[in-house]
This record gives sequence, structure tokens and C-alpha cells, in this order.
Amino acid sequence: MRKKIVAGNWKMNKSLKETKTLVKEIKKEVKHLHLDKNVRVIIAPPFVNLQKASKLLKDSKIKVAAQNMHQSESGAFTGEISAEMLKGIYIDTVILGHSERREYFGENDEILKAKVDTALKNKMKIIFCFGEVLEDRKKGDHFKVVESQIKHALFHLNSDQWKRIVLAYEPVWAIGTGETATPEQAQEMHAFIRELIAERYTSDVAEEISILYGGSVKPENAKEIFSKEDVDGGLIGGASLNSKDFVSLIKSI
Ligand code: G3H
Repeated sequence: MRKKIVAGNWKMNKSLKETKTLVKEIKKEVKHLHLDKNVRVIIAPPFVNLQKASKLLKDSKIKVAAQNMHQSESGAFTGEISAEMLKGIYIDTVILGHSERREYFGENDEILKAKVDTALKNKMKIIFCFGEVLEDRKKGDHFKVVESQIKHALFHLNSDQWKRIVLAYEPVWAIGTGETATPEQAQEMHAFIRELIAERYTSDVAEEISILYGGSVKPENAKEIFSKEDVDGGLIGGASLNSKDFVSLIKSI
């Protein structure tokens, strides 16, 4: 049975002090939830707070992920963080391809493919994000755009490597805007993605892949989105920054 995942991407938010408070609150609440064994909860704080978060969560079911990493193993890349550094502090999951990385930091398909390869070489798990901008959707190009993003970064992988991948469909027009894709739009895209994977690999590989939806998921809309057949959870931005909302989303899965 494929995993259901609620992952909180904190982006560039929360100081060390705030991280400690939020992690402790989430941990306390999650401890009392009777989560199904196929449910995973992940938080992705900024780099400098990963170690603290992971120490605070070491006896908890909540996992900690990084928001990014560099594609090179090491070297003269001022300000960057490598896979080995993350592994060194026991972080084995990384978010790659977020639209903010694509838009503001020039991460294109080629760079993302290299990041995917480096992460897998270092035995990391990947939450791989992609999604169309509003203009693509208006032109009816959203399927084409998503297909191209997935193919370029991931279709050179073998079936075994796909066991380390979680996909996150995030229509850019729905990120932080308060505008959510309708549950039907999310389901339609997720089913399309699963079909793509089944065509390139096998239906078994496609059935095993968790596909998350991201873009203004909130306590008010989560249940309906998560109830869709091909939606296996969410990658949450804004609503992952307070424990009340985040825990409510976990309860909705
Ligand atoms: O990584 C998370 C997504 O960018 C969604 O962010 O929930 O604030 O719209 P949001």
C-alpha cells in the first residue's frame, strides 16, 4: 500500500527558538494521534535548524527533511550544502525542484537531474516538486509542462531508484496565493502523472509512488483534496508554520 504523507515545508521561516517551540508542539500532538502505519509526517525547516529539529524528534514518528542541496559532492560553492553534509547530521530526505528554487535560483531541468542523481548516489530520499505556472494552465499546456519536468529529471532512473522518490505536484499559481487547485484538478493531474509512470515503467511502479499535492492546502480544504484517489497527501507551506493547522492537516489524511 502506498504511503500517505503530510510534509511541511517551512521555507525561510522560523528562528532556532521558534523551531524548538513548533517542533515540540507538533511532536506532543502527533504522539496522541493514532496514525495508520502507512502515514508519514515530515517537516523541512531551514538548514541551520535541521539538526536541532532532528534531535528533538529522535524518539518520534516525525521525520526531518532538507529543503534543498547542491548537485556537487563538495567544492567551491559558497553558501551551498552537500548531500554528505546532510547525511552527516542524519538527514536522509531532501526536497528538490520546488518552484521557488526554479524561479528565484535558476534551477532548470538539467540542474535538477544532477541533484536527483547526487541525492540518490548518497542514498537519500527525494520529494520532487514540479508544476505549471498560470499561463501554462490558461493555454491548456499544464499536462505538457508537467510531463516534461518529470521526464527530464526522473525518467532516466530505474525502477528501483523510484522507490526513493515521492512526487509533489504544485501548480505555481496556487502556491501561497490562497488559490487552491480544485480537488478535481488535483486528481486529474495526479492520475495523468501515474499513467505516465505506468507507461514508462510498469503499473506496479506507478501504483507505489506517493504523489502529494501542494498549493494553499489548509485545514478547510485538506480533507476533500486528500480524499481523492490519486492524491497521497500534501506538501504544505503556510499552514505548516503553526502547530494547530499542521496537526489538523495530519488528522485529515
Ligand atoms: O512547499 C509548499 C508549497 O510551496 C505550498 O505552499 O501551502 O504556502 O501554498 P503554500
